[in-house]
Amino acid sequence: MARKQATAKARTGKATARKQPSVKAAGTPAIELAADALALPVYEEDVRAGGRGRVKALDALLGGALAAAVKAERFAGKAGQELSLPTLGRAPAGRVLLLGMGPRGKAEAWPSTGFEPLRHAAGKAARAAAKAGARALAVALPEDGVEDVAGAARALAEGALLGAYAFERYKSEDDARRTPLAELTVAVPAGAERRAELRDALELAREIGAAVAWARDLVNLGPADCTPTLLAEQAEALAREARLAVEVRGPKEIAALGMGMFLGVTRGSSEPARLVTLSWIPRGAAAKKPPVVLVGKAITFDSGGLSLKPTESMVTMNTDMAGSAAVLGAMRVVARLAPPFPVHAVLGACENMPGGKAYKPSDVLVSYAGKTVEITNTDAEGRLVLGDVLAWAAQTWNPALMVDVATLTGACMVALGHTTAGLFGPDGAAVDGLLAAAGASGEELWRLPMTESLKEQLKSDRADLKNTGERWGGAIAAAHFLHAFVKDVPWAHLDIAGPSHAPKERGYVAKGGTGFGVRTLVELVRAHRP
Ligand code: BES
Ligand code: MN
Ligand code: ZN
Repeated sequence: MARKQATAKARTGKATARKQPSVKAAGTPAIELAADALALPVYEEDVRAGGRGRVKALDALLGGALAAAVKAERFAGKAGQELSLPTLGRAPAGRVLLLGMGPRGKAEAWPSTGFEPLRHAAGKAARAAAKAGARALAVALPEDGVEDVAGAARALAEGALLGAYAFERYKSEDDARRTPLAELTVAVPAGAERRAELRDALELAREIGAAVAWARDLVNLGPADCTPTLLAEQAEALAREARLAVEVRGPKEIAALGMGMFLGVTRGSSEPARLVTLSWIPRGAAAKKPPVVLVGKAITFDSGGLSLKPTESMVTMNTDMAGSAAVLGAMRVVARLAPPFPVHAVLGACENMPGGKAYKPSDVLVSYAGKTVEITNTDAEGRLVLGDVLAWAAQTWNPALMVDVATLTGACMVALGHTTAGLFGPDGAAVDGLLAAAGASGEELWRLPMTESLKEQLKSDRADLKNTGERWGGAIAAAHFLHAFVKDVPWAHLDIAGPSHAPKERGYVAKGGTGFGVRTLVELVRAHRP
């Protein structure tokens, strides 16, 4: 069978092409739901006590088979543990999945993590359901221990939708494919399914699930498919579908704006650069409110340029546009939220390549802001493009709040690992807002200090600044570099080099692009008061 050409397939021109499962709430007792698979979160204590409530009722329907399986599989309800059992026609659901949630007492801390344990458990359930060929999945709230029903239901729905994600665009048709999730039901206490708050929560989960899947798709594409041109086309497609305004500028216009750092980075590549703005503008007087501005790093491939990366470091550099994917995904949800203030997204999209025209170590570039920058390493390209884009955005819009999201430094990944993003910025609304937003969304951030001594390292003998300091503290030096171009705009920087892509499967996170940042940015906009 002919392998479909990747490029042709990627350029469908639609941002919302991926088929999304339906999501609904049900107030019916969970064990009466006729899904292909029914997932029930259970606490350790209840497993030790031989089951209670609906697990006990289900066990009775199954003639004791559930209790027997719990024993045989040594299922103890520990966090992350899972048990899957077909019901063979004895219960309305075709299969039961018990999800270990750890001790009941720990559930008290879930709200402060945006219900992340529920999100992970539901994600694992969706993956197990797909393996078992289930198209309709029901996930129940825990029987007790959860007060915020809407928050928990949202986390379960997001987790299941994200756990059901698979990137199969480059797989031949005859390769084994996962059963796509078609219907998701969240079982809630009777009556709760009619509450507006719950409906809104599930609607938001559905939007977020779709937006994160889209962001993951963009990150997972190869660099021959996900070019600056494709990112611009995807932004245009979203604008058409979601009442957003879009503007795409090419190399000539970027040159005319005087973005000398951006131009320097793009020079070694034969892919034309794109400066993309995507804007939510509310109707009426609200359009005049100071905007929130989201900036995403959009290096569609980072070879390192003449400071060439070794092969092992280069193979994941198709993901160096993950910041822009997060920003695009967030804008998709923002368009549905329709906030009463403007939100602008900006991407400076290009490749970092070592072509004959490439910028060189020892070059001096003149930035949009007028500062001159000595290039000491062409692999520190993200800060150059971002520096110009941030300065331009600050000047163009005078933002109430500006945030950039970037796979900026390997150093940040060394410091915080693969699950936590680094947060940088002066004390103020942007840093506070991001910390609160991340807490509400379940994404993990950790603030790192903007140590003054590291700023010194960016002083240059030949120009106003140089683009790298010492190796140590590299994530902090990079943040200082950006800060020099945003000056006093309320700003924060998120370094997502670690969490942008996952080296292995974890809970609702699939291997590869994670879509990290979409949820935090959405919460930031949701909580913003102009
Ligand atoms: N895109 C990389 C950072 C990166 C590394 C992201 C690993 C994801 C995983 C960035 O452009 C880069 O190359 N940074 C250099 C900076 C150095 C030259 C000062 C780095 O981190 O090594
Ligand atoms: Mn680089
Ligand atoms: Zn990079």
